[in-house]
Amino acid sequence: MTDPSHRRSPRDLVGGRPDATYTLRFDGRELTAHAGQSIAAVLWGAGILAWRTTRQGGAPRGAFCGIGSCYDCLVTVNGRPNQRACLVPARPGDAVTTQEGTGRADLAV
Ligand code: FES
Repeated sequence: MTDPSHRRSPRDLVGGRPDATYTLRFDGRELTAHAGQSIAAVLWGAGILAWRTTRQGGAPRGAFCGIGSCYDCLVTVNGRPNQRACLVPARPGDAVTTQEGTGRADLAV
């Protein structure tokens, strides 16, 4: 029989501690995050699958590749647009908002 203390899991590899939780806000909604989760993982965990709209047509987008290649998961984090939710670690107290288009309405002409 294998000693359970020697088993490894993805959670062990990333150093996640599911018992360590904190909250962040997404479009004003309070969500629970676990240590080691990306923002995309927190959103998925809450059943949120789309958090961006495309520049042309406003089509909904969320995580697609999950590895930082497709840029479909762009989100605004603490006022900074164009953050890849699949790569950005969730931090306690983060304010995450849906990103519309380029996320830079202040630069619109
Ligand atoms: S899901 Fe593809 S870059 Fe984040």
